[in-house]
Amino acid sequence: ANILFAVSEVDGLVKTGGLADVARHLPEHLSTMDFSCLLALPHYQVLNHLPDLPTMSQVCQFELENIGSDQTFAVTVRQFNHRGLDIVTFAINDLFDRDGLYDHDYQAFADNGLRFGLFSYAIVQFFRDYSELVGFKPNIYHCNDWHTGLVPLFAKYHLSANVHSVLTIHNGAFQGEFDISELGGLSVLLPEEERVNNRVNYLTLAIKYSDKVIAVSPNYATELLSELGSHQLQNTFMAYKDKLTGILNGCDYDIWNPSNDKYLTQQYDIDHLDKKSLNKSALQKWAGLPINKDIPVFAQVSRLTEQKGLEYMLPSILDVLEHPVQFVIIGTGNPKFTEQLQELMLQYPEQLFFFNGYSDEINHQVMAGADFFLIPSLFEPCGLTQMHALAYGTLPIARKVGGLVDTVIDINDHNGNGILFAQPEVASLSSALRRAALLYLTHPQKLHYAQHNAMSCNFSWQRAANTYQSLYKQLLSI
Ligand code: ADP
Ligand code: GLC
Repeated sequence: ANILFAVSEVDGLVKTGGLADVARHLPEHLSTMDFSCLLALPHYQVLNHLPDLPTMSQVCQFELENIGSDQTFAVTVRQFNHRGLDIVTFAINDLFDRDGLYDHDYQAFADNGLRFGLFSYAIVQFFRDYSELVGFKPNIYHCNDWHTGLVPLFAKYHLSANVHSVLTIHNGAFQGEFDISELGGLSVLLPEEERVNNRVNYLTLAIKYSDKVIAVSPNYATELLSELGSHQLQNTFMAYKDKLTGILNGCDYDIWNPSNDKYLTQQYDIDHLDKKSLNKSALQKWAGLPINKDIPVFAQVSRLTEQKGLEYMLPSILDVLEHPVQFVIIGTGNPKFTEQLQELMLQYPEQLFFFNGYSDEINHQVMAGADFFLIPSLFEPCGLTQMHALAYGTLPIARKVGGLVDTVIDINDHNGNGILFAQPEVASLSSALRRAALLYLTHPQKLHYAQHNAMSCNFSWQRAANTYQSLYKQLLSI
């Protein structure tokens, strides 16, 4: 069967977070099974400037039909293969011809509703009229988050009845809610009955019109049905709860494997955990911190946003700096947090290092060199970085929320692989950090045991892809 994977980013080409990882690894694995996958992406400007990109061939140009304004929208479709993934891109006038995917300087583009709404419409019109040009007729339209959330609605109104739609929710906090007046000619394609106070919510429409709704972890699926965890959409999720399930994302162990990781000073595996310490001293050296194996190193590699718990994490770090501990924080994001981190680094140069940037190389070196990895998220639909940390025997200190609950087990349990805490509050995180420091300093055997448990975890993409496969097959009755 043919799965059209409609998505706004993919690792290796355009990426802001974990959505891009899923867009790469899920289709990669499905393609080795009974499925052909094709990715549909907006043709962002950056795609014209990426080094090592294979030449794209132009498939066709067409104009969007039935738009309710005088403005016309010309679509150019291109195709290419990147690292084994078949991809089609959609350029629509110059809507994606700018710096950034969704925003500039953390300000969302004012025309995002139009940009991604038209992208979703263009996908449906293209596969209705021109699918033979790419030799691919989708059996399932698989959309992801609000950006492609109108695909199921357009598929229902503009395609034959035997087409199915699936939605995966990676982040329900972003819903794509727009005033109809912001949508220009696209608005005529959105039925009156789908508007509330002249507003439309793309995620709500995706939930309503998809045949299946998948949350990226079982625990997140449960949370979406609760008032607290539903991002204000509890009624919608309750109304469609029969089609909602949770499927845990995977970790790509070809990329995240300390025994053959080319970025590391010293490769190691579960039976040679002592070698991990060479990566720790390399990390301390790189960060300009005292090189001392007796001091626990806490790390974070993250988008520095509210979601990731920075608001209470920073005072909590300050709280525990009276102890012999070191912090290495890597990331990009809200200047409110990056400025505070710069200041903390100036105040505590022997204990805290902040790198305002990101690279895969640094990410891998931090995963290998740190003792503990911080994930104090306010909400976390799945979370991938805790899986990376676990694979490197670096114990996650995670809040009991979302997919973190499905992957991290507290060391109080026999199978423990990390430290969990409940409240998104300074006191709660500080006490988790103190528990970790105490474990490190006074219970080395227990620490070692938990590291073993961590490195024995296996959240493979194959397992996730198998579950997606059953769900597709159920939909297609095959
Ligand atoms: P989210 O998607 O909410 O950011 P995930 O844990 O699902 O969180 O995925 C984050 C992905 O992005 C991981 O692959 C991680 O290694 C990577 N990453 C983390 N921080 C950054 C950053 N500042 N810039 C780019 N990629 C990052
Ligand atoms: C989102 C979520 C994150 C999840 C990722 C991939 O960015 O914030 O928790 O892991 O999507 O599904």
